[in-house]
Amino acid sequence: MELADAVRGRRSIRKFQPQDVPKSVITEILEMARWSPSWGNTQPWTLYVLTGEPLAEFKKMNLRQTLTGAAIASDVPMLEKWPDAMKARYNELGKVVLSVQDIKREDKEGREKYYKDMVSVFDAPCLILACISRDNLVEYQMLDVGLIAQTICLAAHDKGLGTCLLAAAARYPAEIRKIAAIPDDKKIVVGIALGYPDPSVPLNNFERSRAKLDEIVYWVE
Ligand SMILES: Cc1cc2nc3c(=O)[nH]c(=O)nc-3n(C[C@H](O)[C@H](O)[C@H](O)COP(=O)(O)O)c2cc1C
Repeated sequence: MELADAVRGRRSIRKFQPQDVPKSVITEILEMARWSPSWGNTQPWTLYVLTGEPLAEFKKMNLRQTLTGAAIASDVPMLEKWPDAMKARYNELGKVVLSVQDIKREDKEGREKYYKDMVSVFDAPCLILACISRDNLVEYQMLDVGLIAQTICLAAHDKGLGTCLLAAAARYPAEIRKIAAIPDDKKIVVGIALGYPDPSVPLNNFERSRAKLDEIVYWVE
């Protein structure tokens, strides 16, 4: 696949086909992703690949914690108040994902069902949890882990797979540690749902928007 097609064609996939991804394919994706750049080639990331029974347990746990109203305790805190421009884009995405599913604002049940789907990692057959070490240059490690996460998403897309980065999969680190044997000295940054996309659903096909170049780029010449 051409690079431009990979970058433009990758999108967040929020409905997957049920079949498993062969371990050999996941390995090829990770094999490519390990060539991502990092601060001083420190490669501060660790990746936990959940499939099968541990993933089923993860999905159950994440849903249970959500439904019982357990306080979100992510290792990476979520901003409570977003700057206006970002908040507007965030709200826009929220509206679009509901409207393409014909879920109206006042349809509490519909919204809850979608929310349950999300915390169940859209029932993907594989979830990769991307971690960094708790100490040492955390800001740069966050950048580094983002780079490898992007490479994973692109490499997966190149192989006809879909991904969705999910902060919603990193909300309950204490519970996740028990399931995936992630030591306490690692911060769980984000999950990456991975699987074969269901191409038929509007949720995987809606038009996405991006800020125009002149909103984000300042030429200094
Ligand atoms: C750090 C991070 C966390 C994200 N967490 C979620 C999430 O919890 N739920 C979700 O549906 N999408 C999540 N996303 C996906 C974004 O919503 C998505 O990347 C964005 O809307 C752009 O759309 P695209 O990926 O289709 O280009 C996350 C993306 C990033 C980078």
